[in-house]
Formats: sequence, C-alpha cells, structure tokens
Amino acid sequence: MFEKMGLRLLQKINAESAHELALLYLRVKPFSNNKIPLYPRLKTRIAGINLPNPLGLAAGFDKNAVAIRTLSQLGFGFTEVGAVTPRPQPGNQKPRVFRLENEKAIINQYGFNNAGMEKVNNRLQQFGKRSVVGLNIGANKNSLNMGNDFVKVLTCCAKNIHFATINISSPNTKKIRDFQKGEKLQDLLALIVESNKALSTPLPIFIKISPDLEYNQLEEIVTTVERYKLAGIIATNTSTDYKILKIKNNFSMGGVSGEPLFAKSTKILAQLSIISEGKIPLIGVGGISSGNDAFEKICAGATAVQLYSALAFSGPELLHSILRDLNTLLQNYGFSHISEAIGIKKYKYV
Ligand SMILES: Cc1cc2nc3c(=O)[nH]c(=O)nc-3n(C[C@H](O)[C@H](O)[C@H](O)COP(=O)(O)O)c2cc1C
Repeated sequence: MFEKMGLRLLQKINAESAHELALLYLRVKPFSNNKIPLYPRLKTRIAGINLPNPLGLAAGFDKNAVAIRTLSQLGFGFTEVGAVTPRPQPGNQKPRVFRLENEKAIINQYGFNNAGMEKVNNRLQQFGKRSVVGLNIGANKNSLNMGNDFVKVLTCCAKNIHFATINISSPNTKKIRDFQKGEKLQDLLALIVESNKALSTPLPIFIKISPDLEYNQLEEIVTTVERYKLAGIIATNTSTDYKILKIKNNFSMGGVSGEPLFAKSTKILAQLSIISEGKIPLIGVGGISSGNDAFEKICAGATAVQLYSALAFSGPELLHSILRDLNTLLQNYGFSHISEAIGIKKYKYV
C-alpha cells in the first residue's frame, strides 16, 4: 500500500529526481519477507551461470551499485549494474530523462553518469556476489582509447561480478556505437578476450547491441561473437528510431525504451537467433512489461530477459505477476521447463 502510494507520488515529479528517490528508498528499505515463489520450471542457466529465474534487472537502473542488496531481494533472477566507466563522470546536462506516460516509454540521454570504477567496485566487493550480478561497462566521454576503458573496468571489477557486458550500443556517448561493426568490433573483441583470459578467473563476456541495426550488421556481429567465443549477446539497448513512438515528435537526442521498443528489439533478437542457429546465448531486453512479453522474448530466442522501464511505471510488484504469468504460460503450452520454449516462435518476429 505504502509502496503504491509512493509510486504514484514519484510519477508526479521529474523523472530523474523520481529515480533518485526510488533508489534512496531501495537503499534503506528493510529486508522484505515478501518472497517471490521459486518456480522450478523457470530455474535456468546462461553462460554457465545458474539463475533462480530468467528475469533480470537491465543496466542503467542502478548505475553505481547503491541498491544492489535490495534489488537482489525483489525477486530478480539477476541484476546488471552500471554502466561504469574508469573515471567518474557527471553525464550530460539536465534534463536528460523524460517519461512518456501515455506510451509507457522513457527517453534518456544520461551519457554514462557514474561514480567511476573504483567506487562501484568497492560497493560490489561489499555485496560479495550474494546473488548473480553483472556489470555493464562503458567508456569515458573524453577517452582517447575507448577500448582500453572497457579493459580497465573489467580488470578492476572482475573479482566481484559474475559476468560483464561490453556496452557498444549506448546512443548517448559519441563513437561508442562504431564498435558494433567491421575492424573496430574485431579489434575490440580481440582485446577484451585477451584481457579476460589474463584474469585469475575469466568471466562470461556479453556484448550489448542496438536495436537500430540492419540484418547484414547482425550477421557480422554473430560471426565475430562466435569467432571470439563470447558468452552471448544482450539485445537490445535503447533506440534512436523515434518513429516507433505514437506521439508526433521531432526528437533528435536520447534513446527510447519501454513498450514502443518491444517489437523492434524482439525482431533483432529473433534475427540473432536465426542467424546463429540458436547457438549463441541471448538475453532479450526491450519493452517487457508482462509475463506474456517475457514469454514472447523467450520464444523469439532469449535464454533470459531483462527489463528497466516497466519497473519505473509499475514498481517492483510487477515482478511477481511477470514470473507467475510466465510460469503459467509455459505450463499451458505444455513445457515442463523454460529451456524447451527458447526460439520456438523466432520466425514470427522477422
Ligand atoms: C534511464 C535509462 C538509463 C539506461 N542506462 C543504460 C546503461 O547505462 N547501460 C546500458 O547498457 N543500458 C542502459 N539503458 C538501457 C536498458 O538497460 C535497456 O536496454 C532498455 O531500456 C530497454 O529495456 P526496457 O524497455 O525494459 O527499458 C538505460 C535505460 C534507461 C531507461
């Protein structure tokens, strides 16, 4: 009741302050006994990591790992913190995040505002991998060598995370999306893989891609990911295709997330599944706000899923209904385990 009232109040203030208040609440929130049931059908495994369920918190919600303890207790199967860069940076000028209530969408142009790898690593160390935690890695805005930035953060934080995501798809840092193609992608992955091998315990490495890519670019990404034996691909980040919004607009900055992103990001996911013949583990993210959405992402080829925007609109209660409904859908379709549904409808989305 208290949380529902809080959510309504937060929706009346500007989006960035609302987010900060929500994080503050999560930091101090006492441990809740309101445990999400464990559904054996939903227990899964990706890139060698066991997950209690396939629903993760997407990157960007807890950039600095300040609320990771509570977030892990809300019922997420895994949490991705970050994006984190080597040096702290303030991000773009405010206002830089906007809610489109009618479309259940968010547009953000934060620009990797974060406390820097040292501070975030200290918090991760304190958390001690008590639940599955991944780190989204970015590069500093003014970096002279963005490839090295990814390596620095990976090396700094590796001991305290279960997996790392190389974020080459943020629309809010110039030049970062250039790493998605050609030699830049090859060179970056070669560098990351080599640095990962040098760690005392190498980690599963994912790359996170944009929803605004063409089929031939996806083919190149799949070939390169296979060549460098990455753990998988996270599809997708936010979109700069503002036509996916119903509202007439002349937006020119920031990335769109939330419900309008669902179709576009699911198409990319299904295409990746088809191109890779289901051999690359995929995490589906973009526009999930119900159990049915999560089910559809899995049927399009995802082994696990993530969400962010729906949490801002509906609050943590949503996790209960998503997991319950996902479990029921799988049961109704006759699947005894979630893995049986992966990719079964991939041709529906392309
Ligand atoms: C305010 C905001 C900040 C974000 N920051 C990051 C980020 O730092 N790194 C990243 O990889 N994705 C970031 N994302 C993208 C999300 O992780 C996710 O890929 C995207 O929002 C689509 O999922 P959704 O529709 O469930 O929100 C951010 C999204 C939002 C809304």
